Amino acid sequence: MRLAINIDHIATLRNARGGREPDPIEAAKVCEAAGARGIVCHLREDRRHIRDEDVRTLRNIVKTKLDLEMAATDEIIRIAIDIGPDFVTLVPEHRRELTTEDGLDIIANKRQLEDVINTFHQHTIPVSLFVNPVDSQLEAAKETGTDMIEIHTGEYSEARTKRDQQMQLKRIRRAAKLAKSLGLGVNAGHGLNYVNVTGVAAIREIDELSIGHAVITRALLVGLDRAVRDMLRLMRRQR
Ligand code: PXP
Repeated sequence: MRLAINIDHIATLRNARGGREPDPIEAAKVCEAAGARGIVCHLREDRRHIRDEDVRTLRNIVKTKLDLEMAATDEIIRIAIDIGPDFVTLVPEHRRELTTEDGLDIIANKRQLEDVINTFHQHTIPVSLFVNPVDSQLEAAKETGTDMIEIHTGEYSEARTKRDQQMQLKRIRRAAKLAKSLGLGVNAGHGLNYVNVTGVAAIREIDELSIGHAVITRALLVGLDRAVRDMLRLMRRQR
């Protein structure tokens, strides 16, 4: 199972002072050197953290895989095609949200998603769809022609009781198995941390975890290199 690190929060911190530090580009290099197999960033409509020039520079320096998280709007699609990340992850985006809140409603937006995926495929850019662990949404995802899905682990991460957490983990396990059986690549993420990652890391059908907040905030205390290595160690222990 690969670990991809979302570096948006490095840019959030940089933007707080309007200067150049901390530099998301340097952060990406440290993450890769520590064993991350991918770098994720979300170019939002409001550019609250990652900016266009960050994505362009990341494209040049990322040696593993650059995953550009994005809403399927005309502007961002144009930028993504111009920059050419290794793949894009399509997410819903709402202006007032603190972070991505929900999976895509693939059933309701199937036609539009098919068109967007086609456009990316014409430019040989693979696509992942961020989706809740719901059978009907995964089956609809398969029909859109997407290459991968990313299972939303938010409800699992936010579970307040052991019982609910186990139930949410079961949903993720089932979704991962279904997506794999449909021939899709399977990523997962949102809200994963140094405690709850173990349950998800034990699911063999998941190819990659996308983790941001927990690793970047731990990095403030112990350093980014160690924060990435600690997460990898926890993931590997489950295999
Ligand atoms: N995957 C997706 C689609 C996301 O939107 C985010 C948050 O930016 C993550 C993974 C990472 O979530 P977290 O920062 O909670 O680890």
